[in-house]
Amino acid sequence: KHTIKTITCIGAGYVGGPTMAVIAQKCPEIKVNVVDINPQRIAEWNDTDLDKLPIYEPGLKEVVKEARGRNLFFSTEVEACIREAEMIFISVNTPTKTYGVGKGMAADLKYVELSARQIARIAPEGKIVVEKSTLPVRTAQSIKTILEAEGNGNKFQVLSNPEFLAEGTAITDLHNPDRILIGGDQDEDGLAAIQALVDIYAHWVPREQIITTRLWSSELSKLTANAFLAQRISSINAISALCERTGADVDEIAHAIGADTRIGPKFLRSSVGFGGSCFQKDILNLVYLCRHFNLPEVADYWEGVVKMNDYQKHRFAKQIIDSLFNTVSGKKIAFLGWAFKKDTNDTRESAAIYVAKELLDDLAEIHIYDPKVKKEQIFRDLEYVYSQDPTQSFDPSVLQSLITIHEEPYQALENAHAIAILTEWDEFKTYDWQKIHTRMLKPAFVFDGRNILDASEMKKTGFEYRGIGKG
Ligand code: NAD
Ligand code: UDX
Repeated sequence: KHTIKTITCIGAGYVGGPTMAVIAQKCPEIKVNVVDINPQRIAEWNDTDLDKLPIYEPGLKEVVKEARGRNLFFSTEVEACIREAEMIFISVNTPTKTYGVGKGMAADLKYVELSARQIARIAPEGKIVVEKSTLPVRTAQSIKTILEAEGNGNKFQVLSNPEFLAEGTAITDLHNPDRILIGGDQDEDGLAAIQALVDIYAHWVPREQIITTRLWSSELSKLTANAFLAQRISSINAISALCERTGADVDEIAHAIGADTRIGPKFLRSSVGFGGSCFQKDILNLVYLCRHFNLPEVADYWEGVVKMNDYQKHRFAKQIIDSLFNTVSGKKIAFLGWAFKKDTNDTRESAAIYVAKELLDDLAEIHIYDPKVKKEQIFRDLEYVYSQDPTQSFDPSVLQSLITIHEEPYQALENAHAIAILTEWDEFKTYDWQKIHTRMLKPAFVFDGRNILDASEMKKTGFEYRGIGKG
């Protein structure tokens, strides 16, 4: 039986930070270290001004305030914290590979591998290593091989404990998870390691909601969950295109089909396309695995979810250009929202980035307002998307001249030809749309990529209003 007195988590990101803060909050007798190689990130986690935490999540400040300095510590002392802990979580990033074998599809496991090597070198006496990062099925085998080879042949226990939190609701998701999933070896040592992790979550999660499985099932459940969730969005978005051609209303359809208990009402909101660091990356990873295991039909099936999402983002941008008389060159287009969803400052894979790129290709002048995203982040996102387009040589000065970032919404909207809503921030619904209408050029177009405004009200106000899937 293991007694866990200290936990160390490698990676102080969107997952490592909030999950460890909640574990520390709920298990005051366990010391929790969160370590990262990025000193700026750690400094922000340690900032006495809780508004400067590196990520924005409702409720996070309060949890950090309660536990930080008591039994929650953020540090760059990776080696010392690994040595100290009985249980080590790996929560580093696993982005899509941008080079070499599997480029654009496979998960890049270099940070995970580095973490495993570091653990084995520093603490070769055999610890419990927990995969918190989302990983391809059978990665635990590679981690074990590395640990045992670098760790003088000592036996390590590797568990899979994927994280299901969604950004924007991370703290409530962590406090009240639908389930916790823990996979491990089914022999005596494996079961003891599983039990040690169960005991931690059992501080606040009812035992019947903690599911334990074999390693491979746990790893593959995470990719499968994200594929199913994203598939629902692509399915409703596919129907939204048909609605626009036929006069049906996609929100009415979502309501009607969601009332079927077998389908259920959640995750059927048609949109400009899903974003976020997980869905696309994890589905591409699943597709890559299927091809690797020579299952091309299965690979094609899931790849369709990503293709439909690309189509949806493209369709939205194209509708803006088409409606504005086939060109947006020199026209002011105002973007409300840049984050990939509301209540987060995260912009990874946000639909806004791809829509902006298509409009910039047509030489639009884009004015952006987002309540939480920083200016530098928006420029980094755009530079990145240009760097990924081999057909274009990138000139940063063009970007500087075509993009304006606003700290305040009304200036962003003034004299605009069109407004595009890219994120469903609640505050957008509270704006004085009458006042906005009088200050815009006419016809005043609003492209609501999130269907958050009332179509008939907007039309009454005088807008040329276009929702998603509103025929
Ligand atoms: P992130 O980029 O926000 O954080 C990862 C952190 O790991 C970074 O701060 C990085 O500096 C650090 N890091 C990388 N290598 C390191 C090393 N060798 N030593 C110490 N620190 C190191 O990523 P994230 O969003 O927290 O995602 C982490 C993992 O969790 C990914 O596998 C992701 O797929 C998965 N996940 C993410 C979410 C989400 O909503 N973001 C949800 C569920 C699962
Ligand atoms: C997702 C999974 O939900 C979570 O379980 C996993 O751990 C990480 O990936 P996240 O990406 O943070 O979480 O947010 P999520 O709420 O799933 O939204 C993802 C994207 O889908 C967002 O761009 C969101 O706007 C979009 N979305 C979501 C829709 O377009 N329609 C919906 O009905 C739901």
